[in-house]
Amino acid sequence: MNTFSSKKAPIRVAVTGAAGNIGYALLFRIASGAMFGPNQPVALNLIEIPPGMKALEGVAMELDDCAFPLVTEIVQTDDLSVGFKDVDWALLVGSVPRRQGMERADLLSVNGKVFVGQGKAINDFAKPNVRVLVVGNPCNTNALIAMTSATNIPNEQFFAMTRLDENRAKTQIAQKAGVPVREVSELCVWGNHSPTMYPDFENAKIGRGKATDVILDQAWFRDTFVPTVGQRGKAVIEARGSSSAASAANAVVDTVRDLSTPTRGDIHSVCVISRGEYGTPAGIITSLPIRVDGAGKWRVVEGVKLSEYAKQKIAASNAELLEERSVAFGQLGLSV
Ligand code: LMR
Repeated sequence: MNTFSSKKAPIRVAVTGAAGNIGYALLFRIASGAMFGPNQPVALNLIEIPPGMKALEGVAMELDDCAFPLVTEIVQTDDLSVGFKDVDWALLVGSVPRRQGMERADLLSVNGKVFVGQGKAINDFAKPNVRVLVVGNPCNTNALIAMTSATNIPNEQFFAMTRLDENRAKTQIAQKAGVPVREVSELCVWGNHSPTMYPDFENAKIGRGKATDVILDQAWFRDTFVPTVGQRGKAVIEARGSSSAASAANAVVDTVRDLSTPTRGDIHSVCVISRGEYGTPAGIITSLPIRVDGAGKWRVVEGVKLSEYAKQKIAASNAELLEERSVAFGQLGLSV
């Protein structure tokens, strides 16, 4: 255990699957200040399942060996009542990962039960204003399961991650246009974090102009860009032999940082509870364009113009989420 004294109270962050590949890439970024800034102390609650506890010991040793000045405490546990105790953020990274040949829906039955237990423990032990980001797939439905199981925590405090898809989409467009990736903005990924997701290229910008005024090849957007972004996770699995890890961890840092700070420039893609915005079915956790206001409250960006093509793509992805919900809730005996 490390100790560190600072006038600023630490932000306590729980990470499940802390000894896994994403956990290993994530913890050192949180500890270094990349998530909450260089002046914000952090306490880390590292959660693993019992077979992962030995490896977790090694991860904690390495965190100690970095002597990160911002880290006030490192808790290692396989007990959710300890792991989620008084946390400000719960990053639910651990889940059975997708292997070659599996779609995310295959993971529903395997992972659903885990998220019921985690949702209940967060409800019982975390701070009432805890924010929960689900990364373990199928992340939208897992987030919905955790949210439904955490009956006292407001639904608005649950998120799932499509920032990795947004980052992937921006890079695809930047490379096609031959511009630095920082030039690409306003690119929202809508729907489910699955191959049906819709990266909205029609509203994306390169510099101050429309991306579609720079890349004139409409067929490339529809026939190459959209499927490439949707299948990128699978392509990484095929190339690496295992699921994306460092890029996923990076997207967790981006998501939490951008949900914790008022949005100044770009909008961002985050899966949140839908209240029916843009015709999405209310009550699912789906990816929408988000801004955070000065009081730290997130809102869905209003007034995005969607073409008929975009509306159809988004509706198909949300229909998949309704189907996932019906299968998972049926298996788990949960009601909507
Ligand atoms: C990804 O998008 O890389 C991850 O969600 C892994 C996966 O199953 O696609």
